Amino acid sequence: MRIIRGAAFSDINQILALIDVFVRQGLLLSKTSYQLSQEINDFLVCEDDDKVIACVALKKFSESLAEIRTLAVNPDFQGLGIGRDLVLNLIKTSPDSSIKNIFVLTYEEMFFAKLGFLKIDRNSLPEKIWTDCVYCSKHDDCDEIAMILSL
Ligand SMILES: CC(C)(COP(=O)(O)OP(=O)(O)OC[C@H]1O[C@@H](n2cnc3c(N)ncnc32)[C@H](O)[C@@H]1OP(=O)(O)O)[C@@H](O)C(=O)NCCC(=O)NCCS
Repeated sequence: MRIIRGAAFSDINQILALIDVFVRQGLLLSKTSYQLSQEINDFLVCEDDDKVIACVALKKFSESLAEIRTLAVNPDFQGLGIGRDLVLNLIKTSPDSSIKNIFVLTYEEMFFAKLGFLKIDRNSLPEKIWTDCVYCSKHDDCDEIAMILSL
């Protein structure tokens, strides 16, 4: 059976294994087990017969602004609508009704455009969101596309 649910500490190793392939391709920022344990409440996972096959997180930056991050679907399960279901669930189940805008930094422009995200100038995002970028190898040469969804 396939379900989407909030992530638990016991999912951390499976999430690390899931994102590893995309981290190595430069598509996602790497995470340590410690970082994930600090952020686990921000995550939803999709589980298929007890195996974590996809994940996503929502990180709040201010009263009204949040970021979708660490979105990954196991390659064997891509193209089945799981990425879309996860993002829609994340938005729908967020306990925080003060969030008005959700942004993403991504190479997957088409995927997010289909969910209603619009392309924006990266520099229009608040400076503090770039703090995580110091951990990225592309820090000085970022080519990700910034997109935003207004709720
Ligand atoms: C991007 C990703 C999450 C998409 O997940 P997915 O489960 O394969 O996507 P879905 O099946 O839910 O696709 C939803 C729609 O987007 C489209 N889509 C998905 N990926 C696409 C792509 N790369 N290019 C164009 N369209 C795409 C699908 O065709 C589908 O369109 P439809 O509604 O017309 O049928 C997945 O490919 C992935 O994990 N990529 C690697 C990690 C990554 O880049 N994450 C994003 C970081 S922000």
